[in-house]
Amino acid sequence: MNIIITGCCGHIGSYIAHNIDKIKKVKRAYILDNLKSNRFSSLFNFKNSKKLKFFLLDLNDPKSLNNFKNIDIIIHCASMTNAEKSFDKKNEMYKNNLNCFNTVLNFCIKNDVKLLHFSSTSVYGKQAKVVDENCEKKYLKPQSPYAKIKLIEEELLKKNNKKLKYNTFRFGTITGVSTGIRFHTAVNKFCFNASINMPIEVYKYAMNQYRPYLSLKDAFNVIKFSINNNFFKNDIFNILTANHTVGQLLKKIKKYKKKVKVKLVDSAIMNQLSYHVDNKKILSNRIKIVGNIENDIKSTMKILRNLN
Ligand SMILES: NC(=O)c1ccc[n+]([C@@H]2O[C@H](COP(=O)([O-])OP(=O)(O)OC[C@H]3O[C@@H](n4cnc5c(N)ncnc54)[C@H](O)[C@@H]3O)[C@@H](O)[C@H]2O)c1
Repeated sequence: MNIIITGCCGHIGSYIAHNIDKIKKVKRAYILDNLKSNRFSSLFNFKNSKKLKFFLLDLNDPKSLNNFKNIDIIIHCASMTNAEKSFDKKNEMYKNNLNCFNTVLNFCIKNDVKLLHFSSTSVYGKQAKVVDENCEKKYLKPQSPYAKIKLIEEELLKKNNKKLKYNTFRFGTITGVSTGIRFHTAVNKFCFNASINMPIEVYKYAMNQYRPYLSLKDAFNVIKFSINNNFFKNDIFNILTANHTVGQLLKKIKKYKKKVKVKLVDSAIMNQLSYHVDNKKILSNRIKIVGNIENDIKSTMKILRNLN
């Protein structure tokens, strides 16, 4: 089977590319990125380089995928992803992410290619104690342009439901180390600040509010499962390892760094932090959650251990 991984230099895409040998059905993986994020290091030292071929491509160009033939699946990771910065870069993010999405969607429809699409649990916003995929529309309250774009992508897929096979996975905030690891998301940013003795900035009121987190291991597992089992349901699934409060995360970080400074701050997406996400739907499909957020914190603190 031949696949394309878009956004292969990112936090998730690089993990998939470096672990591609673990998905036996994949014979060839074409990996592409526009390298605007400058994460060249994600492309270093592939152990599985015979299966991989890199292309420097920008998916803003609707023709960028035209030369690819005999593709079975696209794993679509290419996106601008900093939710908090998305307020300042709203137009740029709408343009880039929807262009990328449309290029991929049109290619999949035209060439009968299956799609793994990654949305975000941030589409839920605040309010209910527990939210699942079947929740009423009123519980879908994306608090940032980033999350609003995710909902638009989901809707576009629903509209084209009859024209392609796909899954939308609503991922929790990713934890764990990859070559393309980023530090603008909650757990990683906390680990980084703790490591360099900077205050960990916590949104006011967020200390005891639950939020969903997803270990890279589980994100990879669900991708592997979909490919190996031809699991494409034209449906939406929440994917997370665990719901945690910021307080619980800090406690885990303190196991590896005794003294941690915390500073309470305001944020435009502060409200986004108060929900508990349910993952029963995906678990009813023989998929197992094997990741562990604490282990991810441990490995992140380990790669940062010499910063102090
Ligand atoms: N990391 C998370 O916590 C998280 C949580 C939920 C959902 N997701 C989603 O999963 C997907 C992958 O996330 P990630 O964390 O790996 O993102 P990332 O920001 O680490 O990587 C995205 C990659 O896409 C590339 N890219 C952006 N625009 C492009 C374009 N026009 N053409 C080609 N390449 C382009 C970037 O250069 C970057 O390497 C995204 O859709 C993201 O929204 C991520």
